[in-house]
Amino acid sequence: DAELAQAKARVKALLERENAVLVAHYYTDPLIQALAEETGGCVSDSLEMARFGAQHSASTLLVAGVKFMGETAKILTPNKRVLMPTLEATCSLDIGCPADEFSAFCDAHPDRTVVVYANTSAAVKARADWVVTSSIALDVVDYLDAQGQKIIWAPDKHLGNYVQKQTGADMLLWDGACIVHEEFKAQGVETLKQTHPDAAVLVHPESPESVVALADVVGSTSQLIKAAQTLPNRVFIVATDQGIFYKMQQLCPDKTFYIAPTAGSGATCRSCANCPWMAMNALDNMAATLESGANEIFVDKALGERAMVPLNRMLNFKN
Ligand code: 13P
Ligand code: SF4
Repeated sequence: DAELAQAKARVKALLERENAVLVAHYYTDPLIQALAEETGGCVSDSLEMARFGAQHSASTLLVAGVKFMGETAKILTPNKRVLMPTLEATCSLDIGCPADEFSAFCDAHPDRTVVVYANTSAAVKARADWVVTSSIALDVVDYLDAQGQKIIWAPDKHLGNYVQKQTGADMLLWDGACIVHEEFKAQGVETLKQTHPDAAVLVHPESPESVVALADVVGSTSQLIKAAQTLPNRVFIVATDQGIFYKMQQLCPDKTFYIAPTAGSGATCRSCANCPWMAMNALDNMAATLESGANEIFVDKALGERAMVPLNRMLNFKN
């Protein structure tokens, strides 16, 4: 409608005025993902968001996602201005892993290599030897395990458990979880599969082990999108944030996607599987932050320099 078109046009004009590029996650509102595509920005998983922002020539990055994504962008490009539509958008994994407690935990196990998920604060990353996202976690842990290294893993226990089972590595797990993925129910997936017996089940590894066990493909957001494109199935049950359906449906217009149930009955709820923090990103607060320069991300210089080391290990990792 006209109001929406106007709001989009306003953000577009401001992006240009501010020499800014929009870097958005697959979980954000489809309007934002479309805008990123139309304006030469990127829509991707957290690993590619970090890569794209670091390589782009714009002087300002507008990061539509959650706080750790903005912080990662700032750590990797300290000379760029990094703005976020809101500073309130956090993540239950980040909240559940306070830097002081985590540091004490690491100090208690000095013989272990510290691997942290990207969904953490700059201070937690600064304490780590490696940062990983879900699309690269298995490869990095495999590599470390092959060298005989024992690992501390934080914060997501479900992803940690999955990586541990797949690699057989010696991993000590922090007790964190994603409030969105943790809600998926294996019984609900089984019930829904009875209605759609030919459906392939795609699961993000932040989901509980019982749901992962039902998956045809387990992977990061970008890996699940790839699976939707390459598997021959016409119907999919997807255990991750519903924001991903924008890209899946765009790339596979003839396929049908159902959200994995958060209830054993197999019922699909409209508001579930929707990260409350990702949902805080909107066209109006994007325009407001570009207009005023508010919500800039700052990371302490010394902390950022320490956090950059394990982040760059991830970006440069090739196995
Ligand atoms: P990926 O996009 O790296 O799979 O991350 C998922 C996530 O939960 C980000 O918040
Ligand atoms: Fe964090 Fe989960 Fe939201 Fe991703 S979906 S930002 S892991 S709370």
